[in-house]
Amino acid sequence: MPNEKVRAKIAKSFGSASQSYDVSARLQRYSGKYLMPWLPNRNDLTVLDLGCGTGFFTNILAEHFDQVIGLDFSNKMLHFAKEQRSDVITWLEADAYKLPIADNSIDLIYSNLMIQWCADLDSVLTELLRVLKPGGLFIFSTLIDGTLFELKSSWAQVDNDKHVIDFRTEQELNTLFNGERCKLLTQESKDIILEYENVIHLARELKGLGANKVPNKLSKGLAGKDKWQKMTTSYQDFVEPNGIYPATYRIYSGMLVKLTY
Ligand SMILES: C[S@@+](CC[C@H](N)C(=O)[O-])C[C@H]1O[C@@H](n2cnc3c(N)ncnc32)[C@H](O)[C@@H]1O
Repeated sequence: MPNEKVRAKIAKSFGSASQSYDVSARLQRYSGKYLMPWLPNRNDLTVLDLGCGTGFFTNILAEHFDQVIGLDFSNKMLHFAKEQRSDVITWLEADAYKLPIADNSIDLIYSNLMIQWCADLDSVLTELLRVLKPGGLFIFSTLIDGTLFELKSSWAQVDNDKHVIDFRTEQELNTLFNGERCKLLTQESKDIILEYENVIHLARELKGLGANKVPNKLSKGLAGKDKWQKMTTSYQDFVEPNGIYPATYRIYSGMLVKLTY
């Protein structure tokens, strides 16, 4: 299991964004809604929303399914969710690496833009397959390599530090999700390009989402003014003729089934 301290920092970063998250979450709303038509058309299911955040989609799941659990490792996110969302939902503060859930007890795991934060995705997948019933589904979205390439390459002009998290490739995910334990039934990847007024707008949105913590970054804290200036100058290579700053998000959406093994 990867470093607990790193995970605690990620949880804290998301927690500090619990109040600003919903107004910043335009990408998350898109990717989460995209998965909705893939949900099974029956309601007698036990469903887990893994990395539920503020519970926006947990609430929608609770309108469709009999038993819904919202799980997140940020207690502030969960606190917000409990206050705002339906009281039929069961909320669990827990880490995806160690789910406090019985073996073979969940029909469906839904997870929107969470697993890119799991450094050891193989271990998390093992845990998800432990709690899923045989034949159970994991319906999810995540971000893959190519995401925020404009920001990544602009920073690469400035220093060798890590300013954007490492995203897995589509091929890596396809290999992980197709094996003896599980099989991908559906998979789609697509680029979503969001528009920003400037790089500060992009940085503020990432902070508002709590998605600005980069594990393994060498220098702590903010970059100096000179470095920031240099990076924003490089970013101008991507600016569109109308003055808009684009940022690419490469979304991988999938539905996998747990095989009997
Ligand atoms: C980008 S947010 C997505 C929230 C929600 N699914 C949505 O669609 O709005 C990612 C969420 O995953 C949670 N998270 C990240 N790593 C986690 C882990 N290892 N265990 C549990 N929750 C985790 C974060 O606290 C955060 O709330």
